[in-house]
Parts: sequence; structure tokens; C-alpha cells
Amino acid sequence: MKQKQKNHILHTPVLANEVLALLKPKAGETYLDLTAGYGGHAGLILSKTKNFKGSVLCDRDQEAIDHVKALFDQEGIEFVKNDFYNATKLLLESGRRFDIILADLGVSSPHLDKANRGFSILRDGPLDMRMDQSQTLSAFDFVNKSSETELETILRVYGEEPRAKYISRKIIEARPINSTSELANVIKSAYKTHTKSHPATKSFQALRIAVNDELGLLEGMLPNSVSLLNPGGRLGVITFQSMEDRIVKKYFNDHANTGYEATLTLINKKPHIPSPTEISSNPRARSAKLRVVSKN
Ligand SMILES: C[S@@+](CC[C@H](N)C(=O)[O-])C[C@H]1O[C@@H](n2cnc3c(N)ncnc32)[C@H](O)[C@@H]1O
Repeated sequence: MKQKQKNHILHTPVLANEVLALLKPKAGETYLDLTAGYGGHAGLILSKTKNFKGSVLCDRDQEAIDHVKALFDQEGIEFVKNDFYNATKLLLESGRRFDIILADLGVSSPHLDKANRGFSILRDGPLDMRMDQSQTLSAFDFVNKSSETELETILRVYGEEPRAKYISRKIIEARPINSTSELANVIKSAYKTHTKSHPATKSFQALRIAVNDELGLLEGMLPNSVSLLNPGGRLGVITFQSMEDRIVKKYFNDHANTGYEATLTLINKKPHIPSPTEISSNPRARSAKLRVVSKN
């Protein structure tokens, strides 16, 4: 495979061995990567399937799409810059089918490492957090234009943040807030005691989920992806937080545990998680959970 070598890896693919062991890519199979990111999983899977013409790499982030385009210069791979709900909808409408589909959810390392993307608590940047740079609404709008009740709901529901009420009050008092470090400091001021992780961790997660409609798109993508699978095809989803995992677990169980009418089979009943060795070499993998189903 003519995959161009990069000097350094921008994003380390998580649970790489487990992805290969459970998705079992075979020569000739067609592959749809719904979150191609920086091409780590795609490279591993395509090196087994070697079916480039039948494969599609999708991401909603223009920088990620530009990167995978530059990385995989094989004739015939299709690149789709879209969110995975709309991408799967369009692929269904065009009659495409796949043997293997992977969604590795959430943000990539460049999202967190590049201050100007506005995802990082520790690197000061604009209040952005959009995965798709062409989207109109950013974190700035959610932080500065939401009502106190709306903010509280976002922080409580998407961040499971116990101090949602106090934090939203502090945010309203401090507005306008323009940067990630300003926001992190305002959130910190709502905490009186020392916390193990940064006090803004849950709130930043909540805002990111809201800005990118992460749970809504996941709920829409799952049935579309199952419809896109050939019989015997496999769908893998890697989640990084409990709300995502609950959605995936419930969808898979609801369609696998229905007796004769079951449309899916669980490949792993319990999610696969990273080994201590993987976590020590890539701490960002620590909350990853991989669930895989096959289509009956
Ligand atoms: C964890 S990274 C994927 C990394 C990739 N598996 C690799 O090995 O390089 C997640 C990627 O998914 C993309 N993403 C997140 N939500 C998405 C969605 N709803 N639709 C399309 N892409 C999405 C992000 O832009 C990011 O590039």
C-alpha cells in the first residue's frame, strides 16, 4: 500500500490490536471509516483489505480530511467531508454497502493539541470547539448567548457536572467570555475545594458535546450504519465517555437480543478496553471502550 510515511504520528489509534481482532478485515472487503481522523485505524484496516476502490474515509473536520487525502494516495479511495449522520444517509441513498464500518468517536489529538481549535483547558485559545470549521455555532455562542437555565442543563446533562448551577451563575456574571483560559478560570472559581482533575474538565466536555451535537449524530448514525452493512458485515464503535457508550450499548443490545428477529450479533458482550501498557504509552486512550456487532 502506497501510504506516505509521516515524520511523526499526529494521533495514535486506540485499541488498534482489538479493532483488528474483532473487525477481522479480510482481503477484498469494503471499508467505511466514519471518523478517519489522521488515518491510523484506516491504515491498519486497508493494509488487510487492500480494497481501496470500495472504501470510503469520512470526517467532519477539514484538516483531518486533508491529512488522510495526503496520506492515502491510492487510486479509488473516496473521501467524504461530512458528519457521519449525513454521510451515512447519503451513502445509503446512493446504494453503497460495506463489509466493515468503524466509528472512533470524539476528538483527535490535534483538536486538543492545537490551541486555536479551542478544545483545550490548558492551552489558551478562542472559545471555538467546532469539529467542522464551517459550522456557524461555536462554543462562544453557547457560553455567551445561552440563558442561565440552558447553560445549567448543558453542563448537568452532557457533563454530568454536579456544580452545574453554580458554574452557570458564574458564567453569566462573567460574560462576555472570549477565551478558553478565561472560561476555565471562571469555572474554577465555582469550586471551593481541590479536585483530582481540572475543575473545568466536565464543563468543557459538556460544551464540546453541545457544540458538535455529538449524541444526536451518534443516535442517527447507528441505524444508518447497520443498514449500510452487507450481511456478515461488522460495525465497531469506540466511545470515550459513558453517555456515548450507553447509547451504543443500548442500540446494539436492542437489536441483538430479540430472538428470531435479531438483526445483529454481539461480537463482544463486554466492551474491550485498553491494557495498562496502552494507557501508559497513550494516556488519552484511558477511557476508550470498543463494541463490535455483526449483521445477521
Ligand atoms: C478519535 S479521532 C479518530 C482517529 C482515527 N481513528 C485515527 O486512527 O486517526 C475522531 C475523529 O472523528 C471526527 N468526528 C467526530 N465526530 C464526528 C462526526 N459526527 N462525523 C464525522 N466525523 C466526526 C473528528 O473530527 C476526529 O477527526
